[in-house]
Amino acid sequence: MAAAKYIVGNWKLHGSVQENAARLAALKAGCRSDVALAVCVPFPYLAQAQQALQGSAIAWGAQNVSEHAKGAFTGEVSAAMLTDFGCSCVIVGHSERRSLYGEDDATVARKVQAAAAAGITPIVCVGETLSERERGETAQVVTRQLAAVLVHVSTETKRHMVVAYEPVWAIGTGLAASEEDVREVHALLREQLERAGAANARLLYGGSVKASNAKTLLNIANVDGALVGGASLNAEEFLEIAQAARA
Ligand code: PGA
Repeated sequence: MAAAKYIVGNWKLHGSVQENAARLAALKAGCRSDVALAVCVPFPYLAQAQQALQGSAIAWGAQNVSEHAKGAFTGEVSAAMLTDFGCSCVIVGHSERRSLYGEDDATVARKVQAAAAAGITPIVCVGETLSERERGETAQVVTRQLAAVLVHVSTETKRHMVVAYEPVWAIGTGLAASEEDVREVHALLREQLERAGAANARLLYGGSVKASNAKTLLNIANVDGALVGGASLNAEEFLEIAQAARA
């Protein structure tokens, strides 16, 4: 599969109307259409992202979505609401959601299905913690997390979903996984996707991706793109990562 690499920025809990305006304008001015770029912004800024990026080659999305369509769920945001703001993707099951907000595998699976049913590409995050890695449980953890989603979703969803391998110990630490670790886990996940009839699902790597290591990470077999946190807050660096994806 020689499709363009997919580079997704995860802004997390950062930004302001003013700050975003400058960042979005810089991204729009600097992007080229031969890499698939997307930014996942905080909910209140979806309208701003939509307005700023409409007509550009950059897509936008959210960082979470409710598993529910509507009802008495105070504080939740549904997939249909995301489509109202032109979102094409949403991050689901990020390790911060799992560890800080108690999202378990089953919840993540329901959110993936809710997003896909609304026509939004779910970017499903999987990844082991440092202690799980030290106990030699990496393969077991990531395959369990992915399996929970694969059994739950339709064949159509499987074909269009994106999976991001984000080792928890590599997130925000400045210490990306080694080439060997990424190669090994991505091969494992690819095999699992193939067995589940999702051979074409894109597999991203995330965890301390920067301009300086992007090229190396993006050249590893079965790495179809990157999910970028901290470095996506700097438009120039994010565009450099996109440039690395092109080379
Ligand atoms: P990081 O975050 O690039 O800052 O490590 C990645 C993520 O959490 O998606």
